[in-house]
Amino acid sequence: MKKLIVGNWKLNPTNLAEAKKIQTKIRQKVTGLRNVKVVICPPTAYLSALSLGRSNSIFSLGAQEVFWKEAGPYTGQTSPLILKDLNVSFVIIGHSEQRDLGENDEQINLKLRVVLDYGLRPILCVGEKERDDSGYYLAQIKRQLEDGLEKVSKKMVKQLVIAYEPVWAIGQDQRKAETPTSFLQHALFIRKTLSSLFGPAEAQKIPILYGGSVTIKNAEGFLTQGQADGLLVGRESLIIPNFVALAKLANQIK
Ligand code: 13P
Repeated sequence: MKKLIVGNWKLNPTNLAEAKKIQTKIRQKVTGLRNVKVVICPPTAYLSALSLGRSNSIFSLGAQEVFWKEAGPYTGQTSPLILKDLNVSFVIIGHSEQRDLGENDEQINLKLRVVLDYGLRPILCVGEKERDDSGYYLAQIKRQLEDGLEKVSKKMVKQLVIAYEPVWAIGQDQRKAETPTSFLQHALFIRKTLSSLFGPAEAQKIPILYGGSVTIKNAEGFLTQGQADGLLVGRESLIIPNFVALAKLANQIK
Protein backbone atom coordinates (compact mmCIF):
# COMPACT_ATOMS: atom_id res chain seq x y z
CA MET A 1 0.00 0.00 0.00
CA LYS A 2 1.07 3.61 -0.58
CA LYS A 3 2.72 5.22 2.43
CA LEU A 4 0.66 7.95 4.05
CA ILE A 5 2.46 11.09 5.15
CA VAL A 6 0.05 13.25 7.13
CA GLY A 7 0.87 16.74 8.35
CA ASN A 8 -1.10 17.84 11.39
CA TRP A 9 -0.61 21.58 11.48
CA LYS A 10 -2.52 21.85 14.78
CA LEU A 11 -3.19 25.56 15.49
CA ASN A 12 -0.60 26.87 13.02
CA PRO A 13 0.07 29.08 11.14
CA THR A 14 -1.96 32.07 12.34
CA ASN A 15 -2.57 33.75 9.01
CA LEU A 16 -4.06 32.48 5.77
CA ALA A 17 -1.35 33.84 3.49
CA GLU A 18 1.24 31.70 5.28
CA ALA A 19 -1.04 28.64 5.19
CA LYS A 20 -1.52 29.06 1.43
CA LYS A 21 2.20 29.47 0.90
CA ILE A 22 3.05 26.27 2.80
CA GLN A 23 0.37 24.27 1.03
CA THR A 24 1.29 25.49 -2.46
CA LYS A 25 4.99 24.81 -2.01
CA ILE A 26 4.43 21.35 -0.61
CA ARG A 27 2.01 20.48 -3.40
CA GLN A 28 4.38 21.63 -6.10
CA LYS A 29 7.23 19.62 -4.67
CA VAL A 30 5.44 16.33 -4.11
CA THR A 31 3.87 16.21 -7.56
CA GLY A 32 5.05 13.13 -9.36
CA LEU A 33 5.69 10.94 -6.30
CA ARG A 34 4.09 7.59 -7.03
CA ASN A 35 4.36 5.56 -3.84
CA VAL A 36 3.17 8.06 -1.28
CA LYS A 37 0.04 9.98 -0.40
CA VAL A 38 0.58 13.35 1.26
CA VAL A 39 -2.18 14.80 3.42
CA ILE A 40 -2.16 18.17 5.12
CA CYS A 41 -4.55 18.93 7.95
CA PRO A 42 -4.72 22.70 8.47
CA PRO A 43 -6.86 24.49 11.05
CA THR A 44 -10.56 24.21 10.16
CA ALA A 45 -10.94 27.92 9.36
CA TYR A 46 -8.52 27.53 6.42
CA LEU A 47 -10.10 24.46 4.85
CA SER A 48 -12.29 26.43 2.48
CA ALA A 49 -9.43 28.57 1.18
CA LEU A 50 -7.16 25.55 0.83
CA SER A 51 -9.77 23.31 -0.74
CA LEU A 52 -8.34 21.54 -3.74
CA GLY A 53 -11.42 21.42 -5.89
CA ARG A 54 -10.90 17.70 -6.15
CA SER A 55 -8.66 15.27 -4.38
CA ASN A 56 -5.85 13.73 -6.37
CA SER A 57 -3.94 10.54 -5.79
CA ILE A 58 -0.85 12.24 -4.35
CA PHE A 59 -2.09 15.20 -2.37
CA SER A 60 -5.18 15.42 -0.16
CA LEU A 61 -6.70 17.67 2.43
CA GLY A 62 -7.54 16.51 5.94
CA ALA A 63 -9.47 18.09 8.82
CA GLN A 64 -8.52 18.16 12.49
CA GLU A 65 -12.07 17.91 13.78
CA VAL A 66 -15.65 17.01 12.95
CA PHE A 67 -19.01 16.88 14.69
CA TRP A 68 -21.30 13.86 14.53
CA LYS A 69 -24.40 15.80 13.44
CA GLU A 70 -24.76 17.08 9.91
CA ALA A 71 -26.62 20.33 10.62
CA GLY A 72 -28.73 22.11 13.23
CA PRO A 73 -28.39 23.98 16.50
CA TYR A 74 -24.75 23.10 17.28
CA THR A 75 -22.78 26.30 17.75
CA GLY A 76 -19.14 26.12 16.82
CA GLN A 77 -19.21 22.63 15.31
CA THR A 78 -18.00 21.36 11.93
CA SER A 79 -20.37 19.24 9.86
CA PRO A 80 -19.12 16.17 8.00
CA LEU A 81 -21.18 17.44 5.06
CA ILE A 82 -19.23 20.69 5.01
CA LEU A 83 -15.98 18.72 5.01
CA LYS A 84 -17.23 16.60 2.15
CA ASP A 85 -18.33 19.67 0.23
CA LEU A 86 -14.81 21.10 0.60
CA ASN A 87 -13.27 17.90 -0.77
CA VAL A 88 -11.68 17.00 2.52
CA SER A 89 -10.65 13.33 2.37
CA PHE A 90 -9.27 12.55 5.85
CA VAL A 91 -10.27 13.55 9.39
CA ILE A 92 -8.07 13.24 12.48
CA ILE A 93 -10.18 11.82 15.32
CA GLY A 94 -9.28 11.14 18.95
CA HIS A 95 -6.05 13.12 18.99
CA SER A 96 -4.65 13.28 22.52
CA GLU A 97 -4.86 17.08 22.46
CA GLN A 98 -8.63 16.76 21.90
CA ARG A 99 -8.95 13.99 24.47
CA ASP A 100 -7.19 16.30 26.94
CA LEU A 101 -9.93 18.86 26.35
CA GLY A 102 -12.56 16.33 27.35
CA GLU A 103 -13.35 14.35 24.21
CA ASN A 104 -14.27 10.81 25.25
CA ASP A 105 -14.34 7.44 23.48
CA GLU A 106 -18.10 7.59 22.96
CA GLN A 107 -17.84 10.95 21.15
CA ILE A 108 -14.84 9.67 19.22
CA ASN A 109 -16.88 6.70 18.06
CA LEU A 110 -19.79 8.92 16.94
CA LYS A 111 -17.40 11.13 14.97
CA LEU A 112 -15.62 8.18 13.42
CA ARG A 113 -18.85 6.56 12.29
CA VAL A 114 -20.28 9.71 10.73
CA VAL A 115 -17.02 10.25 8.88
CA LEU A 116 -17.16 6.69 7.55
CA ASP A 117 -20.82 7.10 6.57
CA TYR A 118 -19.92 10.05 4.35
CA GLY A 119 -17.08 8.24 2.66
CA LEU A 120 -14.26 10.17 4.35
CA ARG A 121 -11.28 8.44 5.95
CA PRO A 122 -10.89 8.81 9.73
CA ILE A 123 -7.39 8.76 11.21
CA LEU A 124 -8.10 7.36 14.66
CA CYS A 125 -5.35 8.34 17.12
CA VAL A 126 -4.58 6.04 20.01
CA GLY A 127 -1.76 6.00 22.53
CA GLU A 128 -0.94 5.81 26.19
CA LYS A 129 -0.08 8.75 28.41
CA GLU A 130 2.59 6.83 30.26
CA ARG A 131 4.23 3.45 30.05
CA ASP A 132 4.42 1.09 32.98
CA ASP A 133 6.77 -1.89 33.10
CA SER A 134 3.95 -4.35 33.64
CA GLY A 135 2.26 -3.37 30.37
CA TYR A 136 -1.03 -2.27 31.91
CA TYR A 137 -1.04 0.63 29.46
CA LEU A 138 -1.66 -1.83 26.63
CA ALA A 139 -5.16 -2.30 27.98
CA GLN A 140 -5.67 1.44 27.52
CA ILE A 141 -4.66 1.25 23.85
CA LYS A 142 -6.92 -1.77 23.35
CA ARG A 143 -9.85 0.01 24.94
CA GLN A 144 -9.32 3.12 22.81
CA LEU A 145 -9.44 0.91 19.72
CA GLU A 146 -12.42 -1.17 20.80
CA ASP A 147 -14.47 1.82 21.96
CA GLY A 148 -13.47 4.05 19.06
CA LEU A 149 -14.33 1.36 16.51
CA GLU A 150 -17.51 0.07 18.11
CA LYS A 151 -20.28 -0.73 15.61
CA VAL A 152 -17.99 -0.22 12.64
CA SER A 153 -18.87 -2.79 10.01
CA LYS A 154 -16.33 -4.84 8.07
CA LYS A 155 -17.26 -3.16 4.82
CA MET A 156 -16.03 0.21 6.19
CA VAL A 157 -12.62 -1.14 7.15
CA LYS A 158 -10.91 -0.08 3.95
CA GLN A 159 -11.52 3.58 4.85
CA LEU A 160 -9.87 3.33 8.29
CA VAL A 161 -6.45 4.65 9.28
CA ILE A 162 -4.96 4.21 12.77
CA ALA A 163 -2.24 6.45 14.16
CA TYR A 164 -0.27 5.23 17.13
CA GLU A 165 0.82 8.34 18.99
CA PRO A 166 2.16 7.67 22.48
CA VAL A 167 1.27 10.88 24.30
CA TRP A 168 4.64 11.09 26.05
CA ALA A 169 6.37 11.14 22.65
CA ILE A 170 4.44 14.12 21.24
CA GLY A 171 6.06 17.56 21.12
CA GLN A 172 9.41 16.30 22.37
CA ASP A 173 12.97 16.50 21.28
CA GLN A 174 13.28 13.80 18.61
CA ARG A 175 15.67 11.83 20.86
CA LYS A 176 12.69 11.26 23.16
CA ALA A 177 10.44 9.86 20.43
CA GLU A 178 9.40 6.23 20.37
CA THR A 179 11.99 3.84 18.88
CA PRO A 180 11.29 2.03 15.61
CA THR A 181 11.51 -1.43 17.22
CA SER A 182 9.15 -0.50 20.00
CA PHE A 183 6.80 1.06 17.44
CA LEU A 184 6.80 -2.21 15.52
CA GLN A 185 5.86 -4.18 18.65
CA HIS A 186 3.02 -1.78 19.41
CA ALA A 187 1.83 -1.80 15.80
CA LEU A 188 1.64 -5.61 16.02
CA PHE A 189 -0.39 -5.32 19.18
CA ILE A 190 -2.72 -2.85 17.45
CA ARG A 191 -2.98 -5.13 14.39
CA LYS A 192 -3.87 -8.05 16.67
CA THR A 193 -6.61 -6.01 18.32
CA LEU A 194 -7.94 -4.96 14.90
CA SER A 195 -7.82 -8.58 13.86
CA SER A 196 -10.02 -9.62 16.76
CA LEU A 197 -12.51 -6.90 15.75
CA PHE A 198 -12.57 -7.40 11.98
CA GLY A 199 -10.72 -10.64 11.23
CA PRO A 200 -7.09 -11.00 10.12
CA ALA A 201 -7.64 -10.35 6.41
CA GLU A 202 -9.48 -7.08 7.00
CA ALA A 203 -7.06 -5.96 9.75
CA GLN A 204 -4.21 -6.31 7.30
CA LYS A 205 -5.73 -3.59 5.10
CA ILE A 206 -5.66 -0.90 7.78
CA PRO A 207 -2.65 1.44 7.65
CA ILE A 208 -0.98 2.00 11.04
CA LEU A 209 0.94 5.26 11.21
CA TYR A 210 3.47 6.42 13.78
CA GLY A 211 3.15 9.90 15.33
CA GLY A 212 5.14 11.74 17.99
CA SER A 213 8.20 13.94 17.35
CA VAL A 214 8.81 12.65 13.84
CA THR A 215 11.63 14.50 12.11
CA ILE A 216 13.60 14.01 8.96
CA LYS A 217 16.28 12.38 11.15
CA ASN A 218 14.21 9.62 12.73
CA ALA A 219 11.58 9.05 10.02
CA GLU A 220 13.51 6.46 8.06
CA GLY A 221 13.76 4.17 11.09
CA PHE A 222 9.99 4.14 11.56
CA LEU A 223 9.36 3.43 7.89
CA THR A 224 11.99 0.68 7.53
CA GLN A 225 12.74 -1.10 10.84
CA GLY A 226 9.40 -0.02 12.30
CA GLN A 227 7.50 -0.99 9.10
CA ALA A 228 5.14 1.94 9.63
CA ASP A 229 2.55 2.40 6.90
CA GLY A 230 3.06 6.13 7.25
CA LEU A 231 3.67 9.01 9.63
CA LEU A 232 1.52 11.56 11.43
CA VAL A 233 3.73 14.60 11.67
CA GLY A 234 3.25 17.70 13.84
CA ARG A 235 5.90 20.43 13.95
CA GLU A 236 8.01 19.06 11.10
CA SER A 237 5.02 19.30 8.74
CA LEU A 238 5.22 23.11 8.83
CA ILE A 239 8.85 23.20 7.77
CA ILE A 240 8.44 22.95 4.01
CA PRO A 241 11.79 21.39 2.98
CA ASN A 242 11.68 18.86 5.80
CA PHE A 243 8.11 17.77 5.14
CA VAL A 244 8.83 17.45 1.43
CA ALA A 245 11.94 15.42 2.28
CA LEU A 246 9.79 13.14 4.47
CA ALA A 247 7.41 12.56 1.57
CA LYS A 248 10.28 11.80 -0.80
CA LEU A 249 11.85 9.44 1.70
CA ALA A 250 8.56 7.55 2.14
CA ASN A 251 8.19 7.42 -1.63
CA GLN A 252 11.44 5.48 -1.93
CA ILE A 253 10.66 2.88 0.73
CA LYS A 254 8.82 -0.17 -0.51
P1 13P B 1 4.88 16.50 16.92
O1 13P B 1 5.35 15.86 15.64
O2 13P B 1 5.04 17.98 16.92
O3 13P B 1 5.45 15.82 18.12
O4 13P B 1 3.29 16.26 16.98
C1 13P B 1 2.84 14.96 16.79
C2 13P B 1 1.37 14.97 16.69
O5 13P B 1 0.67 15.14 17.67
C3 13P B 1 0.78 14.75 15.36
O6 13P B 1 -0.59 14.54 15.44
